[in-house]
Amino acid sequence: MSDNAMSDTANSIKHVASPLARQTLLDSDLTRPVAGVRPIRLLPWLQVVKIGGRSIMDRGADAILPIVDEIRSLLPEHRLLILTGAGIRARHLYGVGLDLGLPVGSLAPLAATEAGQNGHILGALLAPDGVSYVEHETIASQLAIHLSAARAVVGSAFPPYHHHEFPGARIPTHRADTGAFLLADALGAAGLTIVEDVDGVYSTDPNGPDADKAELLRETNAADLAALEGTLPVDRALLEVMGNARHLERVQLVNGLVPGRLTAALRGEHVGTIIRTGARTN
Ligand SMILES: Nc1ncnc2c1ncn2[C@@H]1O[C@H](COP(=O)(O)OP(=O)(O)OP(=O)(O)O)[C@@H](O)[C@H]1O
Ligand SMILES: [Mg+2]
Repeated sequence: MSDNAMSDTANSIKHVASPLARQTLLDSDLTRPVAGVRPIRLLPWLQVVKIGGRSIMDRGADAILPIVDEIRSLLPEHRLLILTGAGIRARHLYGVGLDLGLPVGSLAPLAATEAGQNGHILGALLAPDGVSYVEHETIASQLAIHLSAARAVVGSAFPPYHHHEFPGARIPTHRADTGAFLLADALGAAGLTIVEDVDGVYSTDPNGPDADKAELLRETNAADLAALEGTLPVDRALLEVMGNARHLERVQLVNGLVPGRLTAALRGEHVGTIIRTGARTN
């Protein structure tokens, strides 16, 4: 190689060509030609199922064993990422921690471990079927290999904001529903089903003081739910994230205490509340 050719090689290595090299990443007019490309679906055949911490796991065997049986019977049909929410132990932790004045960045990782505990419980019950609990890092980088070896894996639904949790509220804003949705959308999964102890989202809490006025919303969207005053069975942050979804067009919330509802939802049947997101896939 001549001296000239060698210095050309050295120069081209040092001068990495990038369409984003000469502009601020804050100017969307400049980044759009590059960043406007639709993200690919990493695991388009994956069904993500979020199991409620409070609504299912805290009820113990009466609620957990039937849903485990149902999940087991779904394995030949679907490949699943099962994510668990935190329940009563996280609520106790918030109570003690808030009383002590702990910042939200201290509470979030502690609550996340409770969601993980629920995942370990499901993992143990599904172990004979080849299902294991895996940590976030494994979901991030080795989910495909795990799902080649097993029909399902279990993980914590809590997103790992942990000590980076946004300080807007004293209770972590990004909880299990938000975490499950972020993962499902990032993976380009076929669907996300949220399993709880109610038939869907109601106009007001069906177990609250105005229960007699509660009407089931069979179909709604993230913006309408965000505008609804009062309580919801999902994180409010979920609705915000849904507004910016890239893949998932809808989520279905179903009653896991009624045998067959999860199975029907995964087969595409409308058996709970369908919440439409902001994603457009065509
Ligand atoms: N508008 C509403 N529609 C339906 N359920 C509601 C509504 N508002 C409150 N709820 C209540 O939410 C309860 C479910 O609670 P929550 O969502 O905290 O449990 P979870 O999803 O199992 O918990 P986690 O997020 O920790 O997994 C239902 O049993 C219901 O009483
Ligand atoms: Mg909920």
